[in-house]
Amino acid sequence: MNSKIRVLGFAGSLRKDSYNKMLLNAAVELKPDNVELETFDLEGIPLFNQDQEEQPPKRVKEFKEKIKAADALLIVTPEYNYSVPGVLKNAIDWASRPYGDNVFDEKPVAVMSASEGMLGGARAQYHLRQTLISLNMHPLNRPEVIVSQIDEKIDVNGKVVDEKTRKKIGKVLEALVAWTERVRK
Ligand code: FNR
Repeated sequence: MNSKIRVLGFAGSLRKDSYNKMLLNAAVELKPDNVELETFDLEGIPLFNQDQEEQPPKRVKEFKEKIKAADALLIVTPEYNYSVPGVLKNAIDWASRPYGDNVFDEKPVAVMSASEGMLGGARAQYHLRQTLISLNMHPLNRPEVIVSQIDEKIDVNGKVVDEKTRKKIGKVLEALVAWTERVRK
């Protein structure tokens, strides 16, 4: 494939100093040359109401359009109570509806997570992966980017500086490109 792979990335946190947003920013910094990585902020997506799914709010329409235009997705999730934050699940629910207009259908997707704890959001990742199956997506299995003790892996400006983590982020994007090409065939 000669053209660039368009990836849409979003993090399941609205927090200004979100570690998971830092991880997403590191992906933008470290992406291979053949990747265009656009990010989308979930701020402004209201709570899902099925009465509105045929005519969703403007911000949801924008989110769905961005997903449609992407060749692949990169989802970065915090872990809340051993699962994904409601903010992320809520956004996913909107974009999967109405029935017959699930914009995630058949999209390749990579997942990353970060937390200050020892497990790096692994439990949330596995809950998210279950949802990705329901959406009929094609999740990349490896490499797994599960960043524990993220607070020790960033500098004062929130830049991911840990070399191992940076290498892994680069690798997952390379793998996502190869996976996207494979899924397309
Ligand atoms: C958390 N946190 C958390 N951490 C973890 O490793 N396992 C968990 O189950 C939880 N549960 C949890 C629930 C709630 C409601 C909050 C607010 C927090 C800690 C969480 O991972 C930490 O605040 C991260 O920094 C959140 O991600 P962002 O916003 O930094 O990207």
